[in-house]
Amino acid sequence: MSLKNICNMSFFLTILCLCVNSLFSHAADTISANQSLSGDQTIVSSGGIFELGFFSPGNSSKYYIGIWYKRIPEKAIVWVANREIPISNKDSAQLRVLDGNLVLLNESQIKIWSTDLTSTASNSSVIAVLLDNGNLILREKSGSNSTLWESFNNPSDTWMPGAKIGYDKRTKRGRFLTSWKNSEDPAPGLFSDEFDPNGTQYVMMWNRSKQYWTSGSWDGHRFSLIPEMGLFRIYNFTYVDNENESYFTFTRTNPSTITRFNMDVSGRVKQRLLMNNESWNVFGSQPRQQCEVYAYCGAFGICNQDSLPFCSCLPGFKIKHDNDWSLMDYSAGCVREISLQCENNGSTSNEKNDKFLMNSNLSLPLRSQLLTSGSIGECEGACLSNCSCSAYAYDGSQCSLWNGELFNLQQLAEGDGSGKDVYVRLSASSSLFVKSKNDKQIVIGSVVGSVVAVLVILAIVFAVVFSRRRLMAGKSKVVEGFLVAFGYKDLQNATKNFSEKLGGGGFGSVYKGTLPDSTVVAVKKLESVSQGEKQFRAEVSTIGIIQHVNLVRLRGFCVQGNNKMLVYDYMQNGSLDSHLFDVKKSNILKWKTRYQIALGVAKGLAYLHENCKNCIIHFDVKPENVLLDNEFCPKVADFGLAKLLGGNFSRVLTTMRGTIGYLAPEWISGVEVTAKADVYSYGMMLFELVSGKRNTTNSEDENVRYFPYWAASVTIEGGDILDLLDPVLEREGDIEEVSNICKVACWCVQGDASVRPSMGQVVQILEGVMDVNLPPLPRWLQVLAETPAHSALYS
Ligand SMILES: *[C@@H]1O[C@H](CO)[C@@H](O)[C@H](O)[C@H]1NC(C)=O
Ligand SMILES: *[C@@H]1O[C@H](CO)[C@@H](O)[C@H](O)[C@H]1NC(C)=O
Ligand SMILES: *[C@@H]1O[C@H](CO)[C@@H](O)[C@H](O)[C@H]1NC(C)=O
Ligand SMILES: *[C@@H]1O[C@H](CO)[C@@H](O)[C@H](O)[C@H]1NC(C)=O
Ligand SMILES: *[C@@H]1O[C@H](CO)[C@@H](O)[C@H](O)[C@H]1NC(C)=O
Ligand SMILES: *[C@@H]1O[C@H](CO)[C@@H](O)[C@H](O)[C@H]1NC(C)=O
Ligand SMILES: *[C@@H]1O[C@H](CO)[C@@H](O)[C@H](O)[C@H]1NC(C)=O
Ligand SMILES: *[C@@H]1O[C@H](CO)[C@@H](O)[C@H](O)[C@H]1NC(C)=O
Ligand SMILES: *[C@@H]1O[C@H](CO)[C@@H](O)[C@H](O)[C@H]1NC(C)=O
Ligand SMILES: *[C@@H]1O[C@H](CO)[C@@H](O)[C@H](O)[C@H]1NC(C)=O
Ligand SMILES: *[C@@H]1O[C@H](CO)[C@@H](O)[C@H](O)[C@H]1NC(C)=O
Ligand SMILES: *[C@@H]1O[C@H](CO)[C@@H](O)[C@H](O)[C@H]1NC(C)=O
Repeated sequence: MSLKNICNMSFFLTILCLCVNSLFSHAADTISANQSLSGDQTIVSSGGIFELGFFSPGNSSKYYIGIWYKRIPEKAIVWVANREIPISNKDSAQLRVLDGNLVLLNESQIKIWSTDLTSTASNSSVIAVLLDNGNLILREKSGSNSTLWESFNNPSDTWMPGAKIGYDKRTKRGRFLTSWKNSEDPAPGLFSDEFDPNGTQYVMMWNRSKQYWTSGSWDGHRFSLIPEMGLFRIYNFTYVDNENESYFTFTRTNPSTITRFNMDVSGRVKQRLLMNNESWNVFGSQPRQQCEVYAYCGAFGICNQDSLPFCSCLPGFKIKHDNDWSLMDYSAGCVREISLQCENNGSTSNEKNDKFLMNSNLSLPLRSQLLTSGSIGECEGACLSNCSCSAYAYDGSQCSLWNGELFNLQQLAEGDGSGKDVYVRLSASSSLFVKSKNDKQIVIGSVVGSVVAVLVILAIVFAVVFSRRRLMAGKSKVVEGFLVAFGYKDLQNATKNFSEKLGGGGFGSVYKGTLPDSTVVAVKKLESVSQGEKQFRAEVSTIGIIQHVNLVRLRGFCVQGNNKMLVYDYMQNGSLDSHLFDVKKSNILKWKTRYQIALGVAKGLAYLHENCKNCIIHFDVKPENVLLDNEFCPKVADFGLAKLLGGNFSRVLTTMRGTIGYLAPEWISGVEVTAKADVYSYGMMLFELVSGKRNTTNSEDENVRYFPYWAASVTIEGGDILDLLDPVLEREGDIEEVSNICKVACWCVQGDASVRPSMGQVVQILEGVMDVNLPPLPRWLQVLAETPAHSALYS
């Protein structure tokens, strides 16, 4: 009597049976002959880490055999068996060992997936075991340990610790990762991460043919084009090359950190880290930018790095398969809203049927054809005469033509000079051209329309300005979004005519003030703001939206004539510099407090860089701009001012004494300044937090060591780490924490911006989520140390 028949006998027995089933599904890590997996049955690795069974991704109603982390609520599928052939009824499908293979039988008991070994093993001697590292293996039940087959050698999209990604010289086959087709379909997609034995490197390929990324070659420790790989102490990569195979594999340095690499549907390899045992956090992606992924948006799609979603269609085109786009598969791209006639019936192109629409600032793949052409008209004619020509560009003497579908288009930012004006072929009946038919009417209409509109707007502006004047004279406040618009008189009164100065700087002085409701505020009188009132208000309100516990809150502003002021929450404990460099017995910052300040500032900056809608670079991170509230919780001040001050900002910054020590080298070298400039300044500030002294040696004494160099040497070469601590702390500090902060500081002040960590990564290290590796000694520190007059540079 089979198990099934027994179950049918009675209700009682059914319950019993369920219990037996669930016992089976929880206890076993093995499928042996005569056992099969159906429905919700699973096997679990012996340590309870991984689970194997049927799953259906997202909202799909299709089922696949997969492996996932058992205890992690956010399900992460690390391997899929039947990637291409799903089943629709998991109760009548079976995963079982048959003829020495592990096979998946569909509802009609037809084999749709198999390990495909041509062994002579009998049914009963082979078993499938799920191991605690996530590897599913097939081996002889008894006797030899040799593994007949393993999922690690047949990876899907995820690279697990211990798995080998490389090249099998015996089968002459690569082992590589392939993306899922979309977020609900594990079938192999267009993107793969492969090993290139010639260069001892990894490459990413589109459709297995077009390379769009490389790791750079392996030097025994890291890949040349992923310098930041050294930052975290998570992985130990090794390269193996023997007569049978060559491959990379890695182990985890800290077994309690759970991370995985996968080739995401986006065509980027993402490193994910498990947070709080429940959700996955992406902490690294290659390529770094989404639009670097070849043809990510498909044919006639445009990738725009500064917008979400990244993909859109060229004007005059529509999404080919809406459903795919909603599942994050953009590869099918776009098609013309109105198809070209010459395409439809194969007739030769008719000049009247098609027109060209200009798209600005596009980057394009290599053109198909280059002609020397006297005029843009000739260039257009050349494209028009050939139905397969879909776009042209003209640069004054040369005419570039593109044939067939356009892939890998990228919308470049304004001011990125490398983009081109590209004319794309559309049907002349496209709605985009229709308006040009009655140009004149439209022109007249719009002129009349805009005159009326201008008059109306002027009237409104007058009314608003007038009423605001009245309001201000009456000391009232206007609330704009999150912010209060103060009148000049209000702030003059609140600050007792600007009598209590809290501080000054390149951007203006700060005064203490008390509002009528007795709230204490800090009023910053801005200097050198040349913006008009409207733009100023717009910028200020974007700053006002930004709120985070580690950022000083902007309460309001005042703009009246040339007076522009910002009103902030008042911070009782002033700025960090006064506690570090101006020490009295009463205000010594204990080590614990310093560590929390370092962490808080990192969180504030990470929020500015990563979480806000538009990345905000602070540009002026220094102890003066870190304020402390009554509980010494740090708040970053003066963010967003770069935009307010526009071009004046960098001039003010670079001519300001004192700030120079915090300026990243790219300010001077002329390389693009990014958020990594803040990371550099933050690193310099960390050194000061440890030493309690400015990173300068104004003293004539040649024996005074330049602290960052000294700290870096002790950190890297070993030494008494507590020796580095501010003398007022009398060596009271946690060695581990001091060492951690010094390592982070060294990583942050690397000359090459790409090697510096992001502020988000700094937070993870300081919170103890990630271990940090020993940093390399920044080259400029080395150079500085060898130059006797180094102090001149940084005073
Ligand atoms: C499933 O569908 C619902 C409704 O259409 C949607 O809100 C939800 O986000 C979908 N879930 C996934 C994982 O796609
Ligand atoms: C099972 O697979 C076979 C072969 O692929 C197919 O012909 C059959 O329709 C499948 N059965 C079901 C119920 O899908
Ligand atoms: C394995 O079992 C299947 C059915 O259970 C049977 O058809 C097949 O002949 C067996 N193979 C061997 C090598 O015993
Ligand atoms: C599998 O079942 C068959 C008959 O159903 C039996 O002869 C064989 O011994 C079983 N094998 C194992 C390994 O239990
Ligand atoms: C099989 O593996 C076990 C544990 O890994 C080991 O102790 C044993 O010696 C191995 N046996 C053979 C025959 O290799
Ligand atoms: C590696 O180099 C050899 C000879 O130089 C060449 O035949 C082979 O195609 C190359 N392999 C790859 C993956 O580029
Ligand atoms: C990918 O390459 C295959 C041939 O290798 C080709 O048939 C297919 O059309 C290509 N896919 C796309 C999306 O271009
Ligand atoms: C990295 O792995 C290799 C080989 O597995 C081992 O020899 C080496 O000691 C490991 N290094 C670290 C830092 O764990
Ligand atoms: C290569 O494969 C052969 C046969 O499978 C095996 O005997 C040998 O030990 C393998 N060499 C290495 C270095 O693993
Ligand atoms: C995560 O789980 C492990 C073991 O399951 C446990 O030891 C650890 O404390 C958990 N960590 C958190 C942050 O919940
Ligand atoms: C084919 O193209 C010609 C020329 O543009 C047009 O007149 C004709 O109507 C088209 N025929 C069909 C069947 O679309
Ligand atoms: C293209 O870039 C130029 C400057 O490089 C800019 O003036 C223009 O507005 C941009 N056009 C679009 C559509 O972004």
